[in-house]
Amino acid sequence: MDVCTQVDELRRSIRAWRKQEMRVALVPTMGNLHTGHLALVRHARVIADRVVVSIFVNPMQFGPDEDYESYPSSMDRDKAVLIDEDTDLLFVPTVQAMYPHGSGNTTVVAVPGLNSLLEGEHRPTHMDGVSTVVAKLFGMVQPDVAVFGEKDYQQLLLIQRMVHDLWLSIEIAAVETVREIDGLAMSSRNSYLQPQERKVAPELYRLLCRVKTRVESGETGFAGIEAAAMEELAVAGFRPDYVSIRRATDLGEPGREDTRLRALAAAWLGTARLIDNIGISIT
Ligand code: PAF
Repeated sequence: MDVCTQVDELRRSIRAWRKQEMRVALVPTMGNLHTGHLALVRHARVIADRVVVSIFVNPMQFGPDEDYESYPSSMDRDKAVLIDEDTDLLFVPTVQAMYPHGSGNTTVVAVPGLNSLLEGEHRPTHMDGVSTVVAKLFGMVQPDVAVFGEKDYQQLLLIQRMVHDLWLSIEIAAVETVREIDGLAMSSRNSYLQPQERKVAPELYRLLCRVKTRVESGETGFAGIEAAAMEELAVAGFRPDYVSIRRATDLGEPGREDTRLRALAAAWLGTARLIDNIGISIT
């Protein structure tokens, strides 16, 4: 596996692959890789000839009181794991290369609507940070396809919309959320959970499963279902930010005609903010 920190180095490898008409996949990450990330890398391996993984902890997507400085990092382990997964190139750009004029002084890519609802209401600058850094990574790597997890469902839709609006010829591939045996969605931030909190954490997914069952069995009072779910989370020991049933395609408020929905939730447990979501189909 090659490891590049400089864009010109990266581009040399990619140019050589393109000359051989190879299809290049990018898996953007912030490192501290877990099995959920590996599912993205494995998917990339199947749908492309060459796999580039990026590791960049993006300051622009963290709010002022968030965990940018303490975000877990395990570069040596990540490299070993990526070699095992047959990754062709690991790209680790510097903050200077990504934000030559500072992250507060960069061209911003913003996706209106998707940047301000749900996650955007609780983390007002987060989504613009994500769309901006992903646009930069797309410009640097120029992949044919990029792979994202459904765990960050709003992020996935935001990137799809960005690619569509900017006419970027990059396919976006989505991979289902990978869960621990008890249902907890894998996330780097699960490491913040204390042992007692870890036992409670799967309740977030169980709750989403119950929401799905209620809606799929014909209940239509979504506001009531959401309020009851928030209450259940609070009783279990979470500090919920939201539980929301939305249209799956754009996270708009669902109407009677919508049959593909998504229930999404975010809740604090101790110092960990957990997010999760589930698909709902009305037949
Ligand atoms: O999902 C993540 O890890 C990040 O938001 C991403 C897509 C790598 C952008 O920094």
